[in-house]
Amino acid sequence: MEEVDLLQEATQEAEAAEDSRALYEVKMKFLGRTGKVTALLKGMKEIAQEARPAFGKRVNALREALEEKFAALEEKVKQKELEKKLAGENIDVTMPGRHTKQGALHPVTRVKDRLIDLFSGMGFEVFEGPEIESEYYNFTALNTPADHPARDMQDTFYLTEEFLLRTQTSAGQIRVMEQKKPPIKILSPGRVFRSDDDATHSPMFHQMEGLVVDKHITLCDLQGMLDEFAKKMFSETSKTRLRPSYFPFTEPSVEVDVSCAACGGKGCSLCKGTGWIEVLGAGMVNRRVLENCGVDPDEYSGFAFGMGIERIAMLKYGINNIKLLTENDTRFLEQFKD
Ligand code: DAH
Repeated sequence: MEEVDLLQEATQEAEAAEDSRALYEVKMKFLGRTGKVTALLKGMKEIAQEARPAFGKRVNALREALEEKFAALEEKVKQKELEKKLAGENIDVTMPGRHTKQGALHPVTRVKDRLIDLFSGMGFEVFEGPEIESEYYNFTALNTPADHPARDMQDTFYLTEEFLLRTQTSAGQIRVMEQKKPPIKILSPGRVFRSDDDATHSPMFHQMEGLVVDKHITLCDLQGMLDEFAKKMFSETSKTRLRPSYFPFTEPSVEVDVSCAACGGKGCSLCKGTGWIEVLGAGMVNRRVLENCGVDPDEYSGFAFGMGIERIAMLKYGINNIKLLTENDTRFLEQFKD
């Protein structure tokens, strides 16, 4: 009988189907609109009238049997496919992880951020001045007129007769005092430029300037603040010492040393046996500078300080050549991760 043959043929082909796609094709071959079982039903009109009900019943039974068969096989094939997929996705937890390169902040940025953090805690606000300055802000207003010998202390890159690349963030002091009346408490970080180049000097480097102007500000306030700075920046046991110095914009002027963190002040190669390391310049703001900015020096006084950020970074991390900070060698930079 044709139906029995078809059942056998379809079952054989369906069982041989390897995946759900092949199985679907077999199903269509028999049960689809143009499939073999459907064709049987369509051929019904050629059958004698009285034989039709029995024939129809048999074909329907065949269709149902096949549908059941396909449903069962589909389930099996899907299960097999899922198992194969999961086996392919097997994770070997013992394999070494994939290494992702993690960036780190540059030591100069780290020190700058630390300084801002530290001085913000003492009430300082950040002010950033321009890198291209006029002679007036960089020198003249800072009590360093054209013929002043102190101009030779800083080899200047001139852009025009009037404009230059600032040699010091001190220029920002004037801009702040012109804009703001005391009390003033600002911190001014930024790049500065000098025609200078050796193991500890670079033509471009960073400074951090500080300025405090108010009534009754004294050198003691400066020293107290510096002690706090040294303890937070270097070590809890750090001490500071002031040495007389000269800057045209401060009077008196001082150079500030911090006890050597490497040897605790006993004397070593880093501090050249002295136990002290020079970290910044500072002083009481010169009366002339206050006057230049329209601040009455009889009513107000102030202190200022300026430090090289590279220098602090070199001291803090034991870096012996300033060039390392600009060469961008990742073997060097990688060492500054937290
Ligand atoms: N501007 C000075 C320099 O670049 C550093 C300095 C010294 C800044 C004394 C100050 C200061 O504010 O009071 O060498």
